[in-house]
Amino acid sequence: METKPRGKFASKLGIILASAGSAVGLGNIWRFPTETGENGGAAFLLIYICCILLLGLPVMLSEFMIGRHAHANAATAFEKLAPGKKQWHWIGRLGVVTGTMILSFYNVVAGWTANYSVCALGNGFNRMSESGDPKVFTDYFNSFVTGTYEPVAYLIGFMLLTHIIVVLGVEKGIERFSKLMMPLLFILLLVLAGCALTMEGAAEGLRFLFQPDFSKIDPGVVLSAMGQAFFSLSLGIGCLCTYASYFKEDVNLGKTAFSVAGIDTMVAVIAGIIIFPAVFSVPGMEPTEGPKLVFVALPHIFKDVFGGLPLLSYLVPFLFYFLLVLASLTSTISMHEVITAYISEVHHLSRKAAATLVTTICIVLSTLCSLSLGAGSEWTIGGMMLFDFFDYATAKWMLPVGGFFIAIFAGWFLNRQILWDELTNKGSIRFYGFKAFLFLLRFVAPLGILLIFLNELGWLAF
Ligand code: TRP
Repeated sequence: METKPRGKFASKLGIILASAGSAVGLGNIWRFPTETGENGGAAFLLIYICCILLLGLPVMLSEFMIGRHAHANAATAFEKLAPGKKQWHWIGRLGVVTGTMILSFYNVVAGWTANYSVCALGNGFNRMSESGDPKVFTDYFNSFVTGTYEPVAYLIGFMLLTHIIVVLGVEKGIERFSKLMMPLLFILLLVLAGCALTMEGAAEGLRFLFQPDFSKIDPGVVLSAMGQAFFSLSLGIGCLCTYASYFKEDVNLGKTAFSVAGIDTMVAVIAGIIIFPAVFSVPGMEPTEGPKLVFVALPHIFKDVFGGLPLLSYLVPFLFYFLLVLASLTSTISMHEVITAYISEVHHLSRKAAATLVTTICIVLSTLCSLSLGAGSEWTIGGMMLFDFFDYATAKWMLPVGGFFIAIFAGWFLNRQILWDELTNKGSIRFYGFKAFLFLLRFVAPLGILLIFLNELGWLAF
């Protein structure tokens, strides 16, 4: 059993920001617009918000309750709370596998953001716009991501940065970092949204994002919305469970969950308000263009809005991509932390040794994912490139499966008294609607996830 004292987060703001730091990342700014664009816009957004409220929040609270009650990482938590019931231990193990796969493709995109901030630092985007070629940003993106050595060098650099912070430990590494970065990113996003709204395609972009066309909804859209909700809130692998194990006893779990989900959803919607007006302003660009959307649409905003202003046209792109690097870093740290905590506590390795193992495995898998976009494009699984397969399998299937079992465990297996004690801090604070919450946790969340799966598999007649 664990005997070393576990680190603790020092302040309440730090807790919210660190959890939000895990939640807010490429999932909001890169994956959300990509999925929204590919799945028809506003109708997707609506289903996504329902998934956050009905499936995401109950699972998030479950992770918080399990983690804080057990004071242990995801895998050990199930062992502690369900001694002798080996079947539950698989939730933790599934989480570790899923986390490793997510980290591996996430890290590739994080490497792209690092490259973009280096490019902005060297005034690259302004120089590209001088060519006058409207496709210059698309060409840059395509040639960079399909390259062999450069994207791999960036992803290795990014992984090593994550590694160093994880090895430095919880409080020093994560908390200090999130406090500074999150508010700054939020302000910059608001400014960019304001800028995007002055572009000529703004009205069309907003209509795409906010005026639902219900004919676009099919089982695949619903599955994507559910996957995006789990991915964006960092649910399903015990990540927030591990974070909650560092929470103090007086943290209000309900409020924290609402704040984190609220901040996360707001950032995603603001990212949509930035991207879609830009997409509809650039001739020839479509919302369905997938992963390149953010990397091509944003340079267009920078060019159109700040083009004539020498200082801003240099500073804004750099600041944006740099903050995106930091937002990605707080997310990669959170995934790395889950896996490292599992390996070091379950297999009794030092944190450093465990982290080194995780970093090495992820660098190898990330490299394969990155190469699958260029030189290795023929390595496919089920017709998908490795990069796309990792994204598809984890977000759409493995995270919701994890979330399903976490909700079942908290709702049906954990003693009601434990749930009540965790939500009210042993009766010292109020938690409104406990019965309604139990209903959501026991019935709505697990059945919802199951029905969405069955629907996608074509076993229901919706
Ligand atoms: N939520 C993060 C984002 O939106 C990604 C992430 C971090 C994640 N930790 C996770 C996703 C755990 C799933 C599980 O960028």
